[in-house]
Amino acid sequence: LFYFILVIYLFLILEEQILSVLTTKSIPANNTHQLYKQRCLPFGLTHYPRSDKAELIINPEDDDTYRTYIKAMKEFLESYDTEKQGDLMTFEDCGDQPGKYKNRGDLESDMGVRKACQFSKSFLGPCSGIEDRNFGFSEGKPCLIVKLNRIVNFRPKPPASNESIPEEAKHKVQPNVIPIHCTNKKEEDAGKLGEVKYYGIGGGFPLQYYPYYGKRLHSHYLQPLVAIQFVNISLNTEIRVECKVFGENIYYSDKDRYQGRFDVKIGVMTKST
Ligand SMILES: *[C@@H]1O[C@H](CO)[C@@H](O)[C@H](O)[C@H]1NC(C)=O
Ligand SMILES: *[C@@H]1O[C@H](CO)[C@@H](O)[C@H](O)[C@H]1NC(C)=O
Ligand SMILES: *[C@@H]1O[C@H](CO)[C@@H](O)[C@H](O)[C@H]1NC(C)=O
Repeated sequence: LFYFILVIYLFLILEEQILSVLTTKSIPANNTHQLYKQRCLPFGLTHYPRSDKAELIINPEDDDTYRTYIKAMKEFLESYDTEKQGDLMTFEDCGDQPGKYKNRGDLESDMGVRKACQFSKSFLGPCSGIEDRNFGFSEGKPCLIVKLNRIVNFRPKPPASNESIPEEAKHKVQPNVIPIHCTNKKEEDAGKLGEVKYYGIGGGFPLQYYPYYGKRLHSHYLQPLVAIQFVNISLNTEIRVECKVFGENIYYSDKDRYQGRFDVKIGVMTKST
C-alpha cells in the first residue's frame, strides 16, 4: 500500500511539472513581451545590504557586526562606477533633477540598442561609499540602498495627489518622481526611528529612467537608486522599519512582502547583549 501511494504521488508531481512546461511552451514567441509584462508586473523593491531574516543588527564599535554588509553594498555599487558609464554611445546624461519618461522608440521597432541614463554614485550623498567607506555603519547612522526591479516597458506613475500618502510624506509628491518613505512598522516604535534622510534624484525614483527596454535592447541600463540613512535612530533597541513606494500603478500584496515595499529590522547596539 505504501509503495502504491508513493507511486501515485510521484506520478501526480511529475504530471504537474510536465503540464506546466507544456503550457509555458505553447505561448507563441510573438507574445513573450506580453507574457513577461504580466508575470513581472509586481513592482518589487530590493535593498542592500540584504541579510538573513531581514535583520540588520549592528554595533558601530565592532566592525565584525557589519563588515559583510558594507562589502555587499560596495559590490553592488561597482556596476555604478563612473568609469563604466563613460561611453556616450551607450550612455547619456539625464540630469540630476527628476524628468519625464525617456521615450526611446517602440519596443518592437528596429532601432537596436537604446542608450541608458547615467547614474552617478555621488547622488547618494553620504551613502555613496565615496567618502564614508563604511556607509554610516561605524557612526551608528546606517544606510540602505534601494532599487526597483526592472520591468520591461513599464512606466511607473507618480501619485496623482498627496491625499492617500502618509502625512509626513505628502511633501514628497512631485510630478516626475516615485516617492519612497520609511516608517516604523509597529506603533509602539513611534518616534524611535528618528530623522530619516533620502538621497538620490529628487529623493525618489525619477521617471527619466523609464521605460526599460529589456536585456537585449537596453543592455547597459542602470536602475536609479535611492539611499536611505537613519541619522538619529534610537540606540539599543530593535525597530521594524517599513519602506514603501507610492504611485498610481504601484500595488502592494499581502503575500509578497517585497511588492511596492519591504521591511527590515534595524538595531544599533552600543552595549553588548
Ligand atoms: C506574430 O503573430 C501573428 C499573428 O498573431 C503572425 O501573423 C506573425 O507572423 C507572428 N510574428 C512572428 C514574428 O512570429
Ligand atoms: C498636498 O497637495 C495639496 C494640493 O495639491 C497642496 O496644497 C498641499 O500643500 C500638499 N501638502 C503637502 C504637505 O505638500
Ligand atoms: C535625536 O533623537 C533624540 C530622541 O531620541 C532627540 O532628543 C534629539 O533631539 C534628536 N536629534 C536631532 C539632531 O534630531
